[in-house]
Amino acid sequence: MEIDLAELPACTRCGLAATRQRVVVGSGPATAELVLVGEAPGREEDEGGEPFIGRSGRLLFRLIEEEVGRTRAQCYVTNTVKCRPPGNRVPARDELAACRPWLLAQLASLAPRVTLTLGLTAAREVLGATLPMGRIHGRPRHLTTGTGVATYHPAAALRDPSLVEVVRADLRVVRSLLEAA
Ligand code: URA
Repeated sequence: MEIDLAELPACTRCGLAATRQRVVVGSGPATAELVLVGEAPGREEDEGGEPFIGRSGRLLFRLIEEEVGRTRAQCYVTNTVKCRPPGNRVPARDELAACRPWLLAQLASLAPRVTLTLGLTAAREVLGATLPMGRIHGRPRHLTTGTGVATYHPAAALRDPSLVEVVRADLRVVRSLLEAA
């Protein structure tokens, strides 16, 4: 059955619908060459309705501007699940499964050149990763549309500043993929 992304803002496919304030669909141009996929909306995103508008988003977009040379306005940003898990817990298996058709439909419609996943949940969902982040980050993988690259979640880089340099190096991989003819 075809999924209609116009119905996403009213989704009730999982239990998160009962506790969310807003469905955080995603933001950015439909023509974006670079798509970012995080884990799940946090409190600020649940209130504001946009992904990555809190502290980790500010770090993320500073690093993307510096290393990839693109602004937030040039990227499409979304998450593996579109509703905030209570207490910011990791999304449960059934929640990820319920939201997967939306994410797949978004990626199919955007058809980006590069999809950058942030953190292990997104790497598993989008890239089918099975190994720890230390083994998979910064390595391009072929996707149905374009190329996928995993990096650490910016919240992890806020907790452990030594990861900032690792994320920067992964972002330089993204830049070279976008610059390749
Ligand atoms: N963390 C995420 O993974 N996504 C957001 O939108 C905000 C914080």
